[in-house]
Amino acid sequence: MTVVAVDGPVGSGKSTVARRVAARLGYVYLDTGAMYRAVGLLATESGVALDDEEAVVALARSAGLRFDGDGRLFAGGRDVSEAIRTLEMGAAASRVSALPGVRGLLVDEQRRLAGDTDIVMEGRDIGTNVFPHAAVKVFLTARPDVRAARRAAELRANGDQVDDAQVLAAILERDRRDCTRAVAPLRKAADAVELDTSDMTPGEVVEAVAGIAREQVGP
Ligand code: DC
Repeated sequence: MTVVAVDGPVGSGKSTVARRVAARLGYVYLDTGAMYRAVGLLATESGVALDDEEAVVALARSAGLRFDGDGRLFAGGRDVSEAIRTLEMGAAASRVSALPGVRGLLVDEQRRLAGDTDIVMEGRDIGTNVFPHAAVKVFLTARPDVRAARRAAELRANGDQVDDAQVLAAILERDRRDCTRAVAPLRKAADAVELDTSDMTPGEVVEAVAGIAREQVGP
């Protein structure tokens, strides 16, 4: 089993790059942020306070989260892949992900899903916490203005009416929460390779990450 851990803040290019690197290497791809988003969505829809740990953990436990072969995420049989991709669900995910009980549950599930397959896993704590012995660790960053512009473009492509300033404020708030939470905060693992993607195309980042992976684990 080979794990490629791709961590970084909002808009650093993780999702696009992790998905394409997985396809390139023939590895499974797992988006751990989607799992926190789904728990945030279910809590929001059922009126559970996002800081009510006991209630959110109970929801997460009974959520029946499952990815299909195309990376779509289902909660109890319902496809939530689109519903989780809003600015609001990003914030909700960040809030529920600060709850230790939620993290414990989802991290166990992430390790179980990885099984003994070769996998590219993206998130905030993959290289530091979920798989601290991952063979390959990459930490992506980019300037805040670049990250906000990327995220705003994604949200608009999904039909969300957002302006850049609103998105910048939301991602800075999310970064602050993700970096300062008590359990498994967002940070670069000591042995991760850091890449600033601000002035790189997605294709260039994919090349760079696939190159790092080849260096560490061989062709
Ligand atoms: O990658 P994303 O934007 O979909 O993640 C949504 C939120 O989920 C993020 O702000 C923090 C949380 N998260 C986490 O705490 N740990 C992970 N491994 C992935 C996401």
